[in-house]
Amino acid sequence: MFRALLINSENDGPQISEISEDVLRQDGVLVKVEYSTLNYKDCLAILHGKPIIRKYPMVTGIDFCGTVLNDSSSEFKPGSEVLMTGFGMGEKFWGGHSELASVDASFLLAIPNGFTMKNAMQCGTAGLTASMAVLKLKDFGLTPDSGKILVTGASGGVGTISILILKKLGFHVIGTTSNTKNFEFLENLGVEEIIETSTLNSVKILDKQKWIGAIDSLGSKALVGVCACTFAGGAVVACGNAQGIDFPTSVAPFILRGINLFGLDSVYQTTANRKRAWNLLAECLTDNDLDNISTEHQFNDILDLAKQLIENKVTGRLVLRMQES
Ligand SMILES: NC(=O)c1ccc[n+]([C@@H]2O[C@H](COP(=O)([O-])OP(=O)(O)OC[C@H]3O[C@@H](n4cnc5c(N)ncnc54)[C@H](OP(=O)(O)O)[C@@H]3O)[C@@H](O)[C@H]2O)c1
Repeated sequence: MFRALLINSENDGPQISEISEDVLRQDGVLVKVEYSTLNYKDCLAILHGKPIIRKYPMVTGIDFCGTVLNDSSSEFKPGSEVLMTGFGMGEKFWGGHSELASVDASFLLAIPNGFTMKNAMQCGTAGLTASMAVLKLKDFGLTPDSGKILVTGASGGVGTISILILKKLGFHVIGTTSNTKNFEFLENLGVEEIIETSTLNSVKILDKQKWIGAIDSLGSKALVGVCACTFAGGAVVACGNAQGIDFPTSVAPFILRGINLFGLDSVYQTTANRKRAWNLLAECLTDNDLDNISTEHQFNDILDLAKQLIENKVTGRLVLRMQES
């Protein structure tokens, strides 16, 4: 038997339940989960179910890391330390809020060199997304000499890790936050300029140009403001919708300033792209960096933590210790 956060049906709430190992798929890689995390998407799944959860019963959790117990494909030896993100885990098939998981070998990656299992989950899906967003800006051609980079939702998971990587690469970073209490935390991360997110909601469709690149976790009017203040020829990576799913803008920033808007989905990515992003995280981030932007919690506290995150009462990343100590 193992423990997992199970939601039985659309009408049932989430509960930590005892489950028999027999119900796990037998043709996957069986992993003893050491750490999982709480991402924004996990909290939507835990508290609202649909539209994140596509099938019931479901065990939530879009990422985990752990130790391989058994692999029928022989790709991973027992004892290998692995990590898993995305591919619909916690949405279409059982996820990482569990003491045991059984998944496709092709979805797993070895823990990157220089990282511990805990480091990997201090980053988690949010960190992977942040790293891919930074790589999009770099591949587009932006360097620290190109100009300033804006990061919205700066105190969140994607935000904090984007900031850490950009700072290590030498960029000048502007952060937006919806809460002035986060100013000191963001200054300590090395953010050079901080603005309140609400100011983005009220800019003109084309406004004063302030940054050459941006990583946006918010969507909605905030993303409109981000595009309106991007320098001509600059690049914006849209990777989230914490403020809203809408995008009420005009084509003006695109046809009058030639700005480039890139979408990012870190869920379905090739092994090569995932490895490249994990390697960048492991090269840039130290234990100290990751300890500053994350807190470790026991699995038992998951429901309280999910409520806090969705109410925007959390700073940085929430890591869950999945095995009872
Ligand atoms: N595209 C992908 O593959 C992908 C992958 C991972 C995450 N995401 C998305 O990226 C977004 C961020 O994820 P996360 O895990 O970083 O979440 P998170 O840790 O909750 O961070 C989101 C941050 O956005 C700000 N925020 C929250 N609600 C807001 C609101 N109503 N209005 C304005 N600002 C608000 C807060 O920062 P401040 O307090 O500093 O304002 C919060 O810390 C989510 O929408 C998530 O679904 C997408």
